[in-house]
Amino acid sequence: EKGGYEHFMLKEIFEQPRSILDSMRGRLELVAGHLNMGGIRAYERKFMNADRIIIVACGTSWHAGLVAEYLLEDLARIPVEVEYASEFRYRNPVITERDIVIAISQSGETADTLAAIELAKSKGATIFGICNVVGSSIARATDAGAYTHAGPEIGVASTKAFTAQVTVLTILAMIVGHKRGTLSDTRLQELMVELGSIPAKVEKALLLNDEIELIAETFKDVPNFLYLGRGYNFPVALEGALKLKEISYIHAEGYPAAEMKHGPIALIDENMPVVVIATKDSSYEKVVSNIQEVKARKGRIIAVVTEGDTVIPPMAEFVIEVPATSEVLVPLVSVVPLQLLSYHIAVLRGCNVDQPRNLAKSVTVE
Ligand code: M6R
Repeated sequence: EKGGYEHFMLKEIFEQPRSILDSMRGRLELVAGHLNMGGIRAYERKFMNADRIIIVACGTSWHAGLVAEYLLEDLARIPVEVEYASEFRYRNPVITERDIVIAISQSGETADTLAAIELAKSKGATIFGICNVVGSSIARATDAGAYTHAGPEIGVASTKAFTAQVTVLTILAMIVGHKRGTLSDTRLQELMVELGSIPAKVEKALLLNDEIELIAETFKDVPNFLYLGRGYNFPVALEGALKLKEISYIHAEGYPAAEMKHGPIALIDENMPVVVIATKDSSYEKVVSNIQEVKARKGRIIAVVTEGDTVIPPMAEFVIEVPATSEVLVPLVSVVPLQLLSYHIAVLRGCNVDQPRNLAKSVTVE
């Protein structure tokens, strides 16, 4: 059942070229040159006229929500708020009938997310669900939605569900942006082609597995880790840190790279590994400066860069090269080495990777 892999988590990480493709199936029609998403058809007008979108989720699904905030604001120019379901539900939030609430959940059973949906529903908002488990409670509680089709995810640490969520949210943002006229035909076509090439790029990123295992060997006994990223890679930094802490029990923090100087920089010394996601995008130059700041304090830099980068490698102790893609799609590729890094560190520490202590696959209590 683990298909020859030692753990479900590793199997699921390696399934991503396929699961991402499955999440696009019937939605990305490259030959015909258009996108479909059955779930939004009846709500197209609503999305076109939305004043804002509120995204509710927990954990990794919340990170996918953060990526969606960048996507929807960039491509569809709709203001987005991303909320932890547990905070949203108890905060007397301002919600109106004009709001669209997107709930994201792999299991579709997360108690806080379900309660946030019920609250938003009672205020008249339209609820759109993005779930992996078909027929789950959240899928049933929403007005409309799209399944991620990632297939069953057994490992407690979410991996392929995350990339499937981001894929579906990307397609959603592209459709809505195109309908609203904020995403031109040409840009849409370019992005579609690029999206179509993502499974192959993820496949390529997976070839880094052995290299990453060696990096894991170096850092397996450290007590702390810092993850930094900007823009689309900021949620990826958060996700990398979450993956590491939940399965290896190493304390890890994800931060927007520029926020480091407002506090976390005090943690950096010659013992602190800092994973910087520094792909070639609009914040690249800024991230290079952030790497210099870490280096000046002797932090140990593990840099995730775009293939062919010659500027960052001399500054880093370890370099992980991922294939180039469009900035808006980069999380789908840059998250992969971070999943592998946390996996190998946890295995080397003898942790129970698929069932980490104190955690459950679906959190059905608040
Ligand atoms: O099933 P859900 O997506 O609603 O679950 C949300 C979180 O409990 C989940 O993402 C959790 O953070 C994972 N263990 C992360 O790997």
